[in-house]
Amino acid sequence: MTKFSVNDRPVEYRMDPETPLLWALRDASNLTGTKYGCGTGECGACTVDIDGEAIRSCIVTIAECEGRFVTTIEGLSRDRSHPVQQAWVAEQVPQCGFCQSGMIMAAAALLRKSSNPSDAEIDAAMTNICRCGTYPRIRGAIRLASRVLRGEEKLAAAPPPGIRPEDAARAVPSLKPPARR
Ligand code: FES
Ligand code: FES
Repeated sequence: MTKFSVNDRPVEYRMDPETPLLWALRDASNLTGTKYGCGTGECGACTVDIDGEAIRSCIVTIAECEGRFVTTIEGLSRDRSHPVQQAWVAEQVPQCGFCQSGMIMAAAALLRKSSNPSDAEIDAAMTNICRCGTYPRIRGAIRLASRVLRGEEKLAAAPPPGIRPEDAARAVPSLKPPARR
């Protein structure tokens, strides 16, 4: 049995201790925001935060996580209010979206260490692969999130999942039934 914390909750996995963390998160905990890309530590789609570091969960066993604190994209914030998430929406970063949870987790870990990263620091930290080529927007979103974190800029809260920003901004239609003639 392997015990550690996932998104601030204690968990026990009754799985082979050599199981990659990625599969425990996806298959046992149903935390499917963490994606499987290569399975060999190359692409970063499976990136999660372990004790403040961006770690590729496909090459870490659950035994290696014993007693540690794991945060996935689902636990980064409850309401998508993390500055990186807000900046990602504002800059409209994702294309297909497959790599994006890993990108966001890597960016959040970078900004926790450095609130004003240089281009060189961003390039060194963001080694994840995006087949859609969203790299320029990712850089822009990291710069925007860093300004938000430093209090130089404010962003509106991200809309709830499944609602497009333009729809969220529309007035809510009246729920009153139409008057009878
Ligand atoms: S799936 Fe883990 S690095 Fe690609
Ligand atoms: S947005 Fe499609 S792989 Fe990155």
